Amino acid sequence: MGSRVRGFGGSRVRTPEPPNPRTPEHKIMAKHILGVDVGGSGIKGALVDIKTGKLIGNRVRVDTPAGTPDIIAEAFAGLVKKIGYEGPIGCGFPAIVQHGVAKSAANIDKGWIGHNIEQEFSDACGNPVKALNDADAAGLAELTFGEGKKVKGVVILITIGTGLGTAQFVDGTLVPNTEFGHLYLHGRIAEHYCSNRVREEENLSWADWAHRFSEYLRHLERLLTPDLFILGGGVSKEFSDFGHLLKVGVPVRPAKLLNNAGIVGAAVYAAKQHK
Ligand code: BGC
Repeated sequence: MGSRVRGFGGSRVRTPEPPNPRTPEHKIMAKHILGVDVGGSGIKGALVDIKTGKLIGNRVRVDTPAGTPDIIAEAFAGLVKKIGYEGPIGCGFPAIVQHGVAKSAANIDKGWIGHNIEQEFSDACGNPVKALNDADAAGLAELTFGEGKKVKGVVILITIGTGLGTAQFVDGTLVPNTEFGHLYLHGRIAEHYCSNRVREEENLSWADWAHRFSEYLRHLERLLTPDLFILGGGVSKEFSDFGHLLKVGVPVRPAKLLNNAGIVGAAVYAAKQHK
C-alpha cells in the first residue's frame, strides 16, 4: 500500500484544500478505481470512473487457474500488474462474502471456505482489496448507473451464468449475500435446473429454457414480491431471444451494463469502503 492510497483517502477528508499540490496521478486515483470480477474461467478487470460508471481503457482478462486460493491470488496479482495499477481495488467474487471472508464455494475451489479473500488478494498484489459477492457487485452497478437507477421497492437482480447469482435491493439499499440461486425447484438446486450452463449442457431451446427460468422467477415472485427483476450475466445480451418467452407477473428487464456490471460494481464498492 503506497502513498497514493493514503492520498485517495486524504482527498476525501482534507477540505478545503490549497491549490492542488498533488500530481495528476492523485487526481486520477480519486476518481478512477480498479474493479475486478473473479469468475470460474476468467478474472477480468478495468479501471472504472466511479462517478459515471464508465470503463477507462480496455478490460483486461487473465484465465482463472484451477487450484487453491494462493494460486488464484497469483493470477489476480498478475492482472493488476498487467494493468499497471496501484491503489484501492474492488473485487467481485463468486461466493458468499462476509466481511471479506468467503463463506461458500459452489463453483470454486472449496479451499476458499473460511478464507479471507481481501487479505489473500491484498497481500498478493500489494494494494488494498475490498471484496463482495459477484452478483451483489453487478447489482450495485445496475442500481447506481443502469436499469435499477432510482427504482424504489424491492428489486432483484439475477446473474445467469455458470450459476445463478442474486442481489436484492430494498429502496436502493443492498441486502447482501442473498443466495436465491440455491433454492430448490423440482428437487434440484435452482442453478442446476436453469442456469446458462444447464441451458448449454442440456442443449435446451430458448423456449425450453425460458419455461424453466419462468418457473424460477414465479417461485421468487411468490416468496419475495419484487417490483422488478433485472437479468444480468453473459446471457442478458441475448434477451431479445428469450425475454418475450418469460411468463411471470413482475416486470423483467435486461441489465444495461451487461458484462461490465461486475467490474463497475466492485469499483463502486471499493470507493464506498475507502470513503
Ligand atoms: C454462488 C453465488 C454466486 C453465483 C454467481 C453461485 O453458485 O453461490 O455466491 O453469486 O454462483 O457466481
